[in-house]
Amino acid sequence: MTTTPQEPETLRVLSGIQPSGGLHLGNYFGMMKPMIKAQEESLLFCFIVNYHALTTVRSGKDLRQGTLEVAMDFLALGLDPEKSIFWVQSDVPEVVELSWILSCVTSMGLLERCTSYKDKVARGIVPNHGLFAYPVLMAADILLYQAHVIPVGKDQKQHVEVTRDIAERFNSQYGDTFVLPEPRIDPDVALIPGLDGQKMSKSYDNTLEIFSEENVLRKKIMRVVTDSKAVEEPKDPENDTLFKLYSLFASSEEIRDLGKRYRAGGLAYATVKDMVFEKINHHFKPYREKRHALNGERAKVERILADGAEKARYIANKTLRKVRRKTGLQYQKA
Ligand code: ADP
Ligand code: TRP
Repeated sequence: MTTTPQEPETLRVLSGIQPSGGLHLGNYFGMMKPMIKAQEESLLFCFIVNYHALTTVRSGKDLRQGTLEVAMDFLALGLDPEKSIFWVQSDVPEVVELSWILSCVTSMGLLERCTSYKDKVARGIVPNHGLFAYPVLMAADILLYQAHVIPVGKDQKQHVEVTRDIAERFNSQYGDTFVLPEPRIDPDVALIPGLDGQKMSKSYDNTLEIFSEENVLRKKIMRVVTDSKAVEEPKDPENDTLFKLYSLFASSEEIRDLGKRYRAGGLAYATVKDMVFEKINHHFKPYREKRHALNGERAKVERILADGAEKARYIANKTLRKVRRKTGLQYQKA
C-alpha cells in the first residue's frame, strides 16, 4: 500500500454514510458490516455525512431526525464508540475548510467525469454546486484523517479514486502531505440487488430496510421480482434475486442445497420468499430490539457523538495545521 509521508502506526479505516432515509441491506453489507468488523482490528473512523446530505435533503427537521436515527442504527448494529471514533460530520467543520483548499487543486474535468453526479442529474435531481463538488468534500473527509482504507460499495469506488487523484495533485504541488487511500470492496457484496433486481438503493424504491417491522419486511419480500417459470420447471439460481438475497444470510451448505432445488424443478418462488423472509428476520431481530431500546436514550447517543467529534477534531486539526502551513494560508511566523 502506498502511504505518504510517515505511515501512522495503526491502519486507519474510514467511511461515512448519509442520514437520508432508512438504512437498507445494500448499506448494511456494502458498508456498515465491514465497518463494524474493522473496529476490532484497526482504528475506525465512522461518521454521518450530514453536509453531504444537505445536497439533497431540504428539510431541517428531516436532516436532524435522520442524523440521530442513523447514529442509533449504527450503535444498535454493534458499532462500539469505545473502540472507534464515531461522530457527525458537521461537528468537525474543519472539513469544509479542507474541502475548499482541495477544490483549488481539483480540475473541473475530474469532477465532470464522476458518474454518480451524472446519474443523479439523469434521475432528475436539479444539480446545485454542492452536488457537483460532493466528491471534493468526500476527499476532504478521507484526507483530513489520513485514512488508509475506505470500505464502500462498488458505486463509491470512483469517489475514492478521485480522492487519490486530488491527494496526489496536492502532494506533488506542496510536498508529501496526504496518505493515499484505497477502497475496500468485498466482491461478494459489492452490489446487493433490490426488489426489482437492480442495485438496491433508496433512490429506486426497491429497498429492504434493516429495521423494518416484520410485517413490512414480509410484504416487501413478496414484491421481489422473479421470472415467470412455473413451479415444476427447473430454475436458474445464478440470475435470481431471491437466491442472491438468501445467499447473503445462509451457510455454504444451505446455498448449495437451495441451488440444487432450483435446478431440479418443483420449487415455487413463493417458498423461497418465505425462506428469505425467515433468514433476514432472524438475522436482524436482536438488532431490532436494541434499536427500539435506543429510542429512549437520545441524550446518551448525543453524548457519544459529541465525544467522538472531540476525538476526530483533534486529529483533523493536526492535518489542517500542516496544510495551512504548506499552502501559505498560515502567513505568520510559526
Ligand atoms: P443509496 O444508494 O441507497 O442512496 P448510499 O449511496 O447512501 O445508498 O450508500 C451508502 C453506502 O452503502 C455506500 O458505501 C454504498 O456504496 C453502500 N451501498 C449502497 N447501496 C448498495 C448496494 N446495493 N450494494 C452494496 N453497497 C451499497
Ligand atoms: N459518498 C458516500 C455515499 O454516498 C458517503 C461519504 C461521504 C463517504 N464521505 C465519505 C464514504 C468518506 C466514505 C468516505 O455513500
